[in-house]
Amino acid sequence: MTTNATAIAHTNIALIKYWGKRDVKLNLPTTSSLSLTLDEYYTKTTVEEGPEDKLYINELPQDSKRVHQFLDVLRAEMGDFPPLTVISINKVPLSAGLASSASSFAALTAAVAKFNGWDLSNEELSRLARRGSGSATRSFFPDFAIWEKGEDDKTSYAHHIDVPDLPIALVVCKIAGTVKKVSSSDGMVRAQTSPNYQSWVDESAKQLEEMKAALEAKDLEKVGQLAEANALSMHDLNLTAEDQRFTYFNQNTMKVLDAIKALRAEGYLAYATMDAGPNVKIITNQEQAPAIKEALAEQFRKIQFDIATPGPGISYE
Ligand code: PMV
Repeated sequence: MTTNATAIAHTNIALIKYWGKRDVKLNLPTTSSLSLTLDEYYTKTTVEEGPEDKLYINELPQDSKRVHQFLDVLRAEMGDFPPLTVISINKVPLSAGLASSASSFAALTAAVAKFNGWDLSNEELSRLARRGSGSATRSFFPDFAIWEKGEDDKTSYAHHIDVPDLPIALVVCKIAGTVKKVSSSDGMVRAQTSPNYQSWVDESAKQLEEMKAALEAKDLEKVGQLAEANALSMHDLNLTAEDQRFTYFNQNTMKVLDAIKALRAEGYLAYATMDAGPNVKIITNQEQAPAIKEALAEQFRKIQFDIATPGPGISYE
């Protein structure tokens, strides 16, 4: 055991989404998902022995039940360890609408493992991180990762897929900085009451296979088409939920989606994906990303845009 340990995890964006649990306690998903790790946004977490489990994010003390519960899951799984002070620097802006839980739980899992001297592979760390946040399973790996839904607790974790030199880029539209109204966990429970849910699960399995083939063929047009279709049908589930239907869309979301379609009509490579919030992320290539960003910034003066490219896997300091 060292006196402290630090890990850095980058966030990821799912191109084939995770949107539903088949086991809530174990966080086992209904579908496998595929993601791109991003270079721009990350969480750096240090853990050190403290008088009690305590979390600080960007220097502010937090009362996070989720983190307390997660540390106890790690103790139950791996054996006891002392109370920890967890100090996180989060470089995932809320306004980017990216899941900061992905990088946060990945960095926390890796830092706790290093602190305790656990000798675990990234896949084993991914399996543990799943209990904190599903999307965190994919944040241990550079570029692309697949979270296999698996058979059970032991077999549900993510692994890296190698797609060398794919010039993919993401234009991130920072539409809203507000805290999400419906958490992803709550949103999934509602979405699973949609009469379309099972067909989404079936379709998602096909889309995953097609996505793997499109990545292998370096066919970014197809990657974009599949990611957009998968994301929009995920959002359909929210609208068609039988229990407490809802939407993450707002008026700007619709306008940006229309603008993306217009850019496509002009010949740009531009496809949308969205997560548990109103923000839109545009899948394109590195050559076109600056022009897309510029065109949208001109049209939407109140929205900020970032460009993100493939990012690294977990690292330690
Ligand atoms: O694991 P969570 O609670 O961060 O849920 C992530 C859900 C989505 O971001 C909408 C999709 C995904 O696969 O990341």
